[in-house]
Amino acid sequence: MKTRAILLAAGKGTRMKSALPKVLHSLCGRPLLWYVVTALRHAGIDEIIVVANEELQGKLDAFDVRTVLQKEQLGTGHAVKIALDAMEQDADGKIVVASGDMPLVPGALYAEVLAALARDVAMVLMTAKMPMPSNFGRIIRKDAAIEQIVEVRDATSEQLAVDEMNAGVYAFAESALRQVVEQLNNTNAQGEYYLTDAVAHFVRDRKTVLPLLVEDHRHVLGINDRVELADAHAQLNARLCHSHMLAGVTIIDPLTTYLEPELQIGADTVIYPNTHIGRLSDIGRGCVVGPNTRISASVLDDDVHVRESVIFDSHIGSGTTIGPFAHIRGGADLGQNVRVGNFVEIKKSRLAKGAKASHLSYLGDATIGEDTNIGAGTITCNYDGQNKHQTIIGKNVRIGSNTSIIAPRTIGDGALTGASSVVTHDIAPGERVAGNPARPLGKRR
Ligand code: UD1
Ligand code: CA
Repeated sequence: MKTRAILLAAGKGTRMKSALPKVLHSLCGRPLLWYVVTALRHAGIDEIIVVANEELQGKLDAFDVRTVLQKEQLGTGHAVKIALDAMEQDADGKIVVASGDMPLVPGALYAEVLAALARDVAMVLMTAKMPMPSNFGRIIRKDAAIEQIVEVRDATSEQLAVDEMNAGVYAFAESALRQVVEQLNNTNAQGEYYLTDAVAHFVRDRKTVLPLLVEDHRHVLGINDRVELADAHAQLNARLCHSHMLAGVTIIDPLTTYLEPELQIGADTVIYPNTHIGRLSDIGRGCVVGPNTRISASVLDDDVHVRESVIFDSHIGSGTTIGPFAHIRGGADLGQNVRVGNFVEIKKSRLAKGAKASHLSYLGDATIGEDTNIGAGTITCNYDGQNKHQTIIGKNVRIGSNTSIIAPRTIGDGALTGASSVVTHDIAPGERVAGNPARPLGKRR
C-alpha cells in the first residue's frame, strides 16, 4: 500500500501582493514549497500530487512531483477533490493533506498523523494552541470529542474565543476522504468548499476523527503575507543555527548569521556576525568566517579564514586567508596557504599553494604558480572587448606593483616584473622585465 500526499498550493496568495506565486517565495534560500516536499519525503510519502493554479503549474519541474490544475480556487475541499479525481483509487490507501504555505512543519509531524491513522480512523488532524488573535480555524469540541472546525469568518464570538486551532495537517483514510469531498457544500461566508467541513460530516456519520495537539505551535505557522514570511525566516534560521551549534560550530550571534538548509560546517569553525552562508556550501573544520561575509556554492577546506569578504562558486584550500574586502568568484580555485588581501577580485583563476595577492588586484582567467607574489595593483587584462584570454604565471614569480598583464600571456617560473610594467610579450623563466611596454633586463639572480 502506497502513502500519498495531496499538497495544496493553488491559492492565489493575494496577501503576498506579488507577481511570484506564494509557494515559490524564498525562505532561507529555498522556495516555500521545497520545505513541504522535503518534509513529506522524510515522512516516507511515496507520491506527492501538487494542486496548482495555472501560474504555478509550469514552474514545478525542479520538484519531481505530479501536478493537477485547479483552474478556479473554489476552496480547499474542492482542491482535494480535483486531486483525488486525478489519482488512481486505492481502497486501503492513506492520504496526507498538506499546505504549500506551511514550510516549518517537520517531516516528523506528517509521520505522526500517518502513524495515528489506524484502521478504524477516518481522519487525523493536527491541532495547535496558537497565540490570539489568530486566523486559524477553530476546533469546536463537545464533551471533549471534536465536533467540527469553524473558519474564522464563519465563527461566532464564542467560537472565536476557543484557543485550539486547526493546524492544517491531516491524514485521511482514502475511501472516507473520497466519500466526504462529494458531500461538501459552499454555503459559508467565503462561498468556498472547505476541506475542514469534513470533520462535521465524519462526526455525523459516526466515523472516528482523531485530533492530535502539536507541542510547538511555531511548527505549523502558515505564511500568508510578507510579515509572516519574515517571522518564518527568523524561526527557521534559528533552527538551522541551533543544529550547527549543537554539532560543534561556534556562532557568535545567531540573530545575524544567515544559514540555509543542507550546509556542511565543520566542528570548531567560528562564525562572526552578519554572515550569510548558502547554496550547499561546505565549510571545513576550524575555519573562521566573518564578520560581514557572504559564502555561496563554495567549498572551504579546514582552517580557512575569511573576513569581510564575498566568495561565490569557488574552492578554497586549507590554511588560506582571505580578506578583508576580497571578492572570489566564478569557479576560482585557491590552494593551501594562499593569502588574498584587501580589494582583490579573483575570477575563474587558480592560485597554487603559497601564492599571495595581498592588495588591490584583479586576477581573471589566470593560473598562478606556487609561492608567486602578485604585487599591489596588478591587473590581468583578460578582456579585449570581445573575448576573454588566459594569463599563466609560473612558480616563484615576483609581479611588481601596478603591473598590467595583457592576456593571453605566459610568464615563466622565477620571472620578475618591475613596478608599473605593462606586459605585452611572454616572459621567459627567470627573466626580469620592466617598463611600458615591458622590456627584458636580463636574468634574475
Ligand atoms: C486553512 C484552513 C484553516 C486552518 C489553516 C491552517 C480551510 C477552509 N481552512 O485556512 O482551518 O486553520 O488552513 O493554515 O481549509 N488552496 C488551494 N485551492 C483553493 C484554496 C486553497 O489549493 O481553492 C491551498 C492554498 O494555496 C493553501 C492551502 O490550500 O496552500 C490553504 O488555503 P488558505 O486559503 O491559505 O487557507 P487558510 O485560510 O490558511
Ligand atoms: Ca494559509
